[in-house]
Amino acid sequence: KAARKEGFDHYMLKEIFEQPKVVKETLTPRLPLDVDDIVLDDINMSKEVLEKINKIYIVACGTASYTGLVGKYLIERVARIPVVAEVASEFRYREPILDENTLMIVVSQSGETADTLAALRLAKKAGAYVIGIVNVVGSTISRDADDVLYTWAGPEIAVASTKAYSAQLCAMYLLSIKIAMELGKISKDEFVELRKELYALPEKVSKVLEQADTIKNLANKYINSKNVFYIGRGLDYAVSMEGALKLKEIAYLHAEPYAAGELKHGPIALIEDKSLLVGLTAHEELYEKTVSNIKEVKARGANVLAIALEGNEEISKTADDVIYIPRTHWMFTSILENIPQQIFAYYISVGLGHDVDKPRNLAKSVTVE
Ligand code: G6P
Repeated sequence: KAARKEGFDHYMLKEIFEQPKVVKETLTPRLPLDVDDIVLDDINMSKEVLEKINKIYIVACGTASYTGLVGKYLIERVARIPVVAEVASEFRYREPILDENTLMIVVSQSGETADTLAALRLAKKAGAYVIGIVNVVGSTISRDADDVLYTWAGPEIAVASTKAYSAQLCAMYLLSIKIAMELGKISKDEFVELRKELYALPEKVSKVLEQADTIKNLANKYINSKNVFYIGRGLDYAVSMEGALKLKEIAYLHAEPYAAGELKHGPIALIEDKSLLVGLTAHEELYEKTVSNIKEVKARGANVLAIALEGNEEISKTADDVIYIPRTHWMFTSILENIPQQIFAYYISVGLGHDVDKPRNLAKSVTVE
């Protein structure tokens, strides 16, 4: 039966508001409170295989590839295994180095994306172990991967991915922690703390959604921006990619994600009066450094919209506007930081009169190469 909008103007908005539920359903069944472990029923990879893994590739397309960037950051940091995150359309053609000590993680909402599937098959042929993070049950990628970690996001109708991405991030959080625990890099006590934070996430997602009207006003304020730059460092940089993509996809605005530290190596030359800078600052270790980059851009005439953690209110002295997100463990900031970007892009698209759910030239699932 066809999904319905349930009173929302568009599927995209409905799906944005489903995120507390989606996050809960992807996380909590895997985090039973009576054992101090993550239970991933569908992952059969043995400890023996895992212990031999010396390299991980995370391969995907579009929004799913940005889950890969977050995954790279998390897995390298907590499990200390080198990770390459790459788009499938590049990975598959460059004779990547794969063997039985390689783990490949493929991420796909549809489970049917042609390039992602081709990358998976290449890896399997070379003897690598493949785990799929997939939303559509029974899809080709879910069948071809050795193991599947399903994202319980339910059907996603809007072309631009929102709830599926948040569910992918949740799956990636779980997988990163699980790998690190199996390798003895995260203790039981540390895990109990992380689990507590994961249980608190759905409520924090709701808190971000409560700001939808404020974000709508900001979207209207900045609707005439000419060039939009999304900048961040570390995990914020990964989140900036998704923010810029959403704006391109549904609002048709030129938007560019940039590593904050690279700004002065080029893009700063493009900053002028009508430019908008979205400064992402939730990766707190690098907060001061990013704020100083934001100041440099502000001084050159751009408008600045910052996304910051609650408690970092002094950023309002630098930015024109600030959206605050609840504090969580550093590993889990990406999900909370991205939601304002979704809402911002949504309301700009609506304000410009575009077809939000079916943006021009784009398809929900790309099954051609
Ligand atoms: C298309 C969709 C995107 C999606 C990408 C990858 O471009 O419009 O929203 O991120 O494909 O799709 P997948 O189903 O593999 O996640």
